[in-house]
Amino acid sequence: MDINRHPAAPVIAIDGPSASGKGTVASRVAAELGFHSLESGALYRLVALAAQRRKIAEDDESQLAQIAATLDVCFQGGDVYLENQQVGSFLREEECGRRASSIAKLPDVRAALLERQRGFRIPPGLVADGRDMGTVVFPDAVLKVFLTASVAARAQRRYKQLKEKGFDASLAALSRDLEARDAQDANRSVAPLKPAHDAKELDSTDLSIEEVVARIVAWWREREVTIN
Ligand code: C5P
Repeated sequence: MDINRHPAAPVIAIDGPSASGKGTVASRVAAELGFHSLESGALYRLVALAAQRRKIAEDDESQLAQIAATLDVCFQGGDVYLENQQVGSFLREEECGRRASSIAKLPDVRAALLERQRGFRIPPGLVADGRDMGTVVFPDAVLKVFLTASVAARAQRRYKQLKEKGFDASLAALSRDLEARDAQDANRSVAPLKPAHDAKELDSTDLSIEEVVARIVAWWREREVTIN
């Protein structure tokens, strides 16, 4: 592979369904390689949150795109700020994820977030996670991973996470929500959730986070040898 095909910083794209562990894995891979990270789902969640606060309907495409284009957001010290207000805990709520999935169907919203996402691509490299990192946002990513896990395993992980944070949760309801969100993300007409044709698929159902991170870092090292 010719390094000149990647004149900007190299990108590792990690896509997959909800609660497959992409976010945690992406930030650990980034830390291990000294790369920047982009959790693209947070941008969709931020648009959803800002819209909810301004009482904008979930199908008002032009107003939502306007919010996406002008979003005043800052990622700092592991937290997220919307208009200078810390919003990390609001973003992680299930309702915010559901709203994000709903507005993510709208082409103008996706278009408005495209360049913002590409702006995170700075040296020495970027690990980006989401649904369309390898297919649309960074089609020239050096390494593309499609991370999956069974619905049962993903619901169980999300359940554990919520319980640890003191939230009330039902495993059955979480499974239903995950399946509904995956179906919505996979069936939309713009940038549907699907593996890039050149992605490596990784099923994490029976793997620990450390094993998943180690596998991806090993794949990256193999690519690095090829591009240098
Ligand atoms: O990854 P996360 O669950 O935070 O994403 C929230 C929602 O944002 C997803 O269900 C999906 O609909 C949308 N999304 C997207 N494209 C991305 C990242 C997230 O459509 N690259």
